[in-house]
Amino acid sequence: PTATATAVINLDIEGPTISRHLYGHFAEHLGRCIYGGFWVGEDSPIPNEGGIRLDVVRALRALNIPNLRWPGGCFADEYHWKDGIGPRDQRPRMVNTHWGNVEENNHFGTHEFMALCELLGAEPYISGNVGSGTVQEMSDWVEYLTRDGDSPMVRLRKANGQEEPWRVKFWGIGNETWGCGGNMRAEYSADLARQYATYCRDHSGNTLYRIASGANGDDYKWTETLMQQIGCFGCEATPRNFFQGLSVHQYTVCGPWDAKGSATVFDTEDYYRTMLEAKRIDRILTGHSTVMDCYDPGRRVGLVLDEWGTWWDTEPGTNPGFLFQQNALRDALVASTHFDIFHRHAARLYMANIAQTVNVLQAMLLTDGDALVLTPTYHVFEMNKGHQDATSLAVHLHAQDARRRVGDSELDTLSASASIKDGTVLISLTNLDAEEPAEVTLDLRGGSVGEPTGRLLTADRLQVHNTAETPEAVAPRPFDALKSTGQGMVLTIPPHSFLTVQAPVA
Ligand code: AHR
Repeated sequence: PTATATAVINLDIEGPTISRHLYGHFAEHLGRCIYGGFWVGEDSPIPNEGGIRLDVVRALRALNIPNLRWPGGCFADEYHWKDGIGPRDQRPRMVNTHWGNVEENNHFGTHEFMALCELLGAEPYISGNVGSGTVQEMSDWVEYLTRDGDSPMVRLRKANGQEEPWRVKFWGIGNETWGCGGNMRAEYSADLARQYATYCRDHSGNTLYRIASGANGDDYKWTETLMQQIGCFGCEATPRNFFQGLSVHQYTVCGPWDAKGSATVFDTEDYYRTMLEAKRIDRILTGHSTVMDCYDPGRRVGLVLDEWGTWWDTEPGTNPGFLFQQNALRDALVASTHFDIFHRHAARLYMANIAQTVNVLQAMLLTDGDALVLTPTYHVFEMNKGHQDATSLAVHLHAQDARRRVGDSELDTLSASASIKDGTVLISLTNLDAEEPAEVTLDLRGGSVGEPTGRLLTADRLQVHNTAETPEAVAPRPFDALKSTGQGMVLTIPPHSFLTVQAPVA
């Protein structure tokens, strides 16, 4: 039976701004994310600018990606940035011990990353090495990138061909210090965050937004320990906090670590379990926000979910250390559901970074030689991009029968969020039910709405994915079945699909 629901949206009651950085990205030296993904080198027959793949840049520009986190991940804590500057043929090599034990030639380094960000129109988010680096090394990197005038690091940068300093706002102080970034205790990690942050200076008018390495999933104790050590919020004379953002990582993983399941071979039960797992992010963000509210009620510190996404078993026949997985319609619905939740947490959640942009985990893009495939997840980012920097609008969803029993739990099968920007309302709706459509009445109050347009992302089956041979198996199509009523519209969302509706508001 078709589920029925009403969604009340007050167009004139404004919620917090949805930071564009919730649509952030992550590129690690892992598998084929950088090498083969973003970077092919200047001599490659694949069209490139200074070694950076142009098809990848074009595809990502269409998403308006706001920021790109680099060089890791776990890799960040064994990366020594000075190995990645200067003439490429003279750069030292290293072993990427975290990811596949392969040799890293350091051809993609600081200058290449900053050039990539410029091509993408994205802000750089650099993740500094705490696990195996030094305070001086990190301090030098900030100086190298952002200082003007004359100094040892400025001279080195200029000698490498970059006269002007770059602007870098987002700076990560370590990654997963509770795990691959050093296996630390929260107390020790908090002290290091204070120490490293002290020497990551604001040079020449560049203001850093320092992000301390935060919790794993629902480890609220970690957040509490970090928030206790953040600095002197209450100090009148010199109010300062050592870091401006605190991170958290949460992946959608179903099953034990050594049997997470296939990205494309799964049944309906697996699918519902995945969605239940995906929705845990709501509780986790609430948990961390609540702790942060106790220490920082003014919300000066941003919560930064700088790794999220699905994590499946690697594709058969690929290097297990490369974390290459396919991406099906199911992944797209995981993403759309996450975004609804992110929008609801807009007051505290400042940034989120999907892991990872190309060829790794829940990727936007898959490359194979010169072929480029846009994944279903890519399309969710594209269809939702109008939410970036928009004003959130609460969606009051009354859905009596839109739920499924999954084991001992109940899964709400309708998810929605909305925002308004430049006189246009954007409503995102996901019907998670694997089999049944949902009829939704959009009751739009507090404004008069013009002609709506809709776009639908779905496929016959949840397992459908895009390949070089069938690149558009899952791609957005126009959705015209929008019946206007006096006060909004009625629409029927097909099973397992994601829909966006846009309309001018007067
Ligand atoms: O994204 C893959 C890895 O997952 C990252 O390197 C690490 O931070 C996390 O454990």
